[in-house]
Order: sequence, then structure tokens, then C-alpha cells
Amino acid sequence: MDQRPNKILICVNRRFKDDEPSCAARGGFKIAEAFEKGVLERRIDIAVERFICFGQCQKGPTIKLVPGNFILGASLDMVDGLLGKLEAACGTKEPGEGVPPVHLLGS
Ligand code: FES
Repeated sequence: MDQRPNKILICVNRRFKDDEPSCAARGGFKIAEAFEKGVLERRIDIAVERFICFGQCQKGPTIKLVPGNFILGASLDMVDGLLGKLEAACGTKEPGEGVPPVHLLGS
């Protein structure tokens, strides 16, 4: 990781033709859920967003660090190691940091 990423994008696109690969068909949703949960639990200072297709469908599941590189051929087994690298590169939020004020949470 050359630059500190401020966002991680995870492709969850599904293509419905049998002969067209897609990140969703290869586990993109489970990978996105694992990153969302891991970043929240570890309070890593990075945004996680689901994304619809980077044009790297043949090489997916695809992840993109912003700024930074693509991570191609991602798998659930890679998530814990990547979370560790992101935590080292981005740091963690203080407890309560980034949480909306109570009056904005509704009742
Ligand atoms: S379906 Fe994920 S990059 Fe195209």
C-alpha cells in the first residue's frame, strides 16, 4: 500500500448470462459484508462502499482502494489480512468518532 486509502470499493455486480463471470457470482457480497463488519468492529478509519463493476469481471471478485490499486481475485480468506494492512495504513477511529449525533439517529 503506497498511499493511505480513504475508501475501499467492493464490486457486488451480478451478470446474469451463464457465460459472463461476475463478482457477485464469485462471492462479492460475502466479501463486502466481511469488510463492512471488520472495519466497523476494528474501527478502521476508512469508508467501505459496494460498487457495481470496474470492468475487471474476468479477474474478480474485484476490490479497489481509493487512492490505490485494484485487488483482483479477492476471497473471504484474504479479508482478515487485508483488514490488518488497512488498520496499519489508516489507523483507527476513537470510540464514538464518525457516529452521527444522537438527535440525528431518530427514535
Ligand atoms: S462484475 Fe465485478 S468488476 Fe465487473
